[in-house]
Amino acid sequence: MENSTHTQTKVKWQCPSNIAIVKYWGKKNIQIPCNSSLSITLSNSFTEVEAELSAKTEDVPVQLAYYFEGELSDLFGRKVVKFLENNIDSFPFLNDHALTIHSTNSFPHSAGIASSASAFGAIALAMLDLAYGFQNKEIDDNFYKEASNLARLGSGSACRSVFPSYSMWGKNSEIEGSSNQKAIEIKDIHPNFQEMRDAILIIEDEPKKVSSTIGHGLMNNHPYAEARFIQANKRTAELVEVLKTGDIERFIQISESEALTLHAMMMTSSEYYLLVKSGTITAIEKLMQFRLERVIPVCFTLDAGPNLHVLYPKKYQEQVEDFINNELTDTYKKVIFDHEGTGPQKLDI
Ligand code: PMV
Repeated sequence: MENSTHTQTKVKWQCPSNIAIVKYWGKKNIQIPCNSSLSITLSNSFTEVEAELSAKTEDVPVQLAYYFEGELSDLFGRKVVKFLENNIDSFPFLNDHALTIHSTNSFPHSAGIASSASAFGAIALAMLDLAYGFQNKEIDDNFYKEASNLARLGSGSACRSVFPSYSMWGKNSEIEGSSNQKAIEIKDIHPNFQEMRDAILIIEDEPKKVSSTIGHGLMNNHPYAEARFIQANKRTAELVEVLKTGDIERFIQISESEALTLHAMMMTSSEYYLLVKSGTITAIEKLMQFRLERVIPVCFTLDAGPNLHVLYPKKYQEQVEDFINNELTDTYKKVIFDHEGTGPQKLDI
């Protein structure tokens, strides 16, 4: 540790996962999205990362010991090493320090929650915090912008998790300040969409059959790709307006159509595949029927998997949660009740 004047060799960060309403699906080199996307940052579904520096003992570009839930994890550790090596200019202290990362998730492994978003969000925040320590810089607004850029380089959707509430990513000519490099927070949110609830129905808890990386790749030369990218950009811009005006009917349409369009892209790619299960379809049908009968603004979305995210405003929490706990139990194995959150936080050690 000689030659360093900073005092911070260990930091701990918590970063939530996010659920996209307008989906990012298709990317170009170095994690540049083919279209803009917009997501809700969650609260209870998060990753905690503790990053600690020590003296380097091996002659390697990046010396990392990565622990997930207390166990050495070579598989994810290799991804993190690649991320750190590719971005060594941002972390020059890794040239003469070894790094130990301890990572834990608040949600079960393979629960169908975007764990790479919360993991790379937390890793980017912790690593940048260490870098700021070496430069004697204070955490400010710029810190989160830089962290979002770095998180993107680990996992695209992670860049949105660095901001609270609603955030969007990807250059969109209709949205001021939007960028392919980092996400921005959408701040003008109508009360209808504040404290939005997300009940995550775990319909299957097996690891993903087809990775997001393969899925994104299949959008190259996809027959419907260009139309899809145009649609997603239009919807992102429209959703920013919807969030401002409180148009919940349109929110429901965009959310559900986006979920089905994402899966339609998978089903119509050259190597087609199907991730939804019978439980997913049954839960969707029951939810639509419930909405019709009870006139409650509840809707669904899907990530790249079979698990259903049920979205509803806080004021309908009781009715919707009764419905989930009583009418949908034969469709899922477990349910995680989550909600829109306040973003990442630095934790005391
Ligand atoms: O960040 P990635 O490469 O895991 O891609 C995530 C893509 C979706 O979760 C399906 C959609 C999104 O925008 O989060």
